[in-house]
Amino acid sequence: MGSVSLKIGDGTARFKRATICSSALNILMLLSVVATNIFALYAFTNPNPGYQSHHLLQHKNISLISEQVTLILREIASSQKKLAKMEKELLGYESIDLSRPNIASELKMFLRPHSLPLGKDSRTGITEMVASVGHSCEKSVDLLTQYMSYKVSGPCPDDWSLAQKLILRGCEPLPRRRCFAKSVPKVGLYPFPVSLWKPISDKVVSWSGLGCKSFECVNTKKSSRECAGCLDLASGNENQKFVKARGKNDFVLDDVLALGGGGIRIGFDIGGGSGTFAARMAEKNVTVITSTLNIDAPFNEFIAARGLFPLFLSLDHRFPFYDNVFDIIRASSGLDVVGKPEKLEFLMFDVDRILRAGGLLWVDNFYCATEEKKKTVTRLIERFGYKKLKWVVGEKADPSGSGKSEVYLSAVLQKPLRA
Ligand SMILES: *[C@@H]1O[C@H](CO)[C@@H](O)[C@H](O)[C@H]1NC(C)=O
Ligand SMILES: *[C@@H]1O[C@H](CO)[C@@H](O)[C@H](O)[C@H]1NC(C)=O
Repeated sequence: MGSVSLKIGDGTARFKRATICSSALNILMLLSVVATNIFALYAFTNPNPGYQSHHLLQHKNISLISEQVTLILREIASSQKKLAKMEKELLGYESIDLSRPNIASELKMFLRPHSLPLGKDSRTGITEMVASVGHSCEKSVDLLTQYMSYKVSGPCPDDWSLAQKLILRGCEPLPRRRCFAKSVPKVGLYPFPVSLWKPISDKVVSWSGLGCKSFECVNTKKSSRECAGCLDLASGNENQKFVKARGKNDFVLDDVLALGGGGIRIGFDIGGGSGTFAARMAEKNVTVITSTLNIDAPFNEFIAARGLFPLFLSLDHRFPFYDNVFDIIRASSGLDVVGKPEKLEFLMFDVDRILRAGGLLWVDNFYCATEEKKKTVTRLIERFGYKKLKWVVGEKADPSGSGKSEVYLSAVLQKPLRA
């Protein structure tokens, strides 16, 4: 072995050799196990009837062998268990271990299965109810225990940002709690539809856990690509969005609705910022749900204050809607999930699932950081077989003002009726 490793130049080769070596070792071990088993089988099934005098001794030898076989089998089973445990640890998908110390008692209480009072339910076949909580909560169990530490029936700690932190770590859904969430006096809300465009008062949202403590502060901060100044309803671009096109990548709402042939009644806006798409759609009597987290700003309460429907959900969560329900789904660069290409595929299939046949998918100014990204996204969209009603790839100046231009894809796609 020593001489072999001397000859190897680079790490790749060494790695390959190592793999081959370990495979060979595995095969050898497997063969030895098989051979032992065959031998044991042979010994069991062929007690030689000719040698009566040796019978006792032979019997002893057989029991010796069978003992050995049992030992080997036990060893294999334990190795397999160890391997499964290692795999679980690598994936981090072991369910929450409630026996470990320092677990909040409320978490144990919430997760404890509850037997059905009348025994087995005839329709579902279940005998107990189990509370649901994201499996990845296991990876943030200290934060989760912090989240579940409160006085029952007392006020909850003012900790929505802790909840969001957990969600962003994949701990979604969160467990329910038995405490009263901090309430905000919502005075000064306007009736609908006046509420859609009235500036939102700083007082109707909670600012805890946020860097800014007012909308004035939020509006001066540099925010994400899709939401530059999106909380500023009075001035800026926000009230022009979907009404006036600033470039060929911007589609006007009336044009898009016309493509839907009058059948657009309900919609879903993925990562919809301050809810302006839903607001413009509300003016067309179309009900739109806007999904957003509260990253650096109180988006959910802002949208609600406009009289619109906010959905506090991360993009990693399966959409909580039934198949084929929406007439229109809009997504911007929020759709750009990072990570393996399969991740975007899972998301796209879920979007496809909740959109009805003939419904519209509006890809609105999807930022393509690289040519490769544009190709990947285009290929993915084309795989779904949507009809391209509009398709624009355009360049825009970098919003940070660096002078460089960036590539954006905008499209309106119609979902086909699949067999
Ligand atoms: C049993 O094993 C012993 C040594 O382990 C050997 O000498 C003997 O021949 C074996 N007997 C039979 C019947 O195989
Ligand atoms: C929305 O519905 C109201 C009430 O039915 C109606 O008066 C109004 O014209 C509708 N608006 C549009 C744009 O269809």
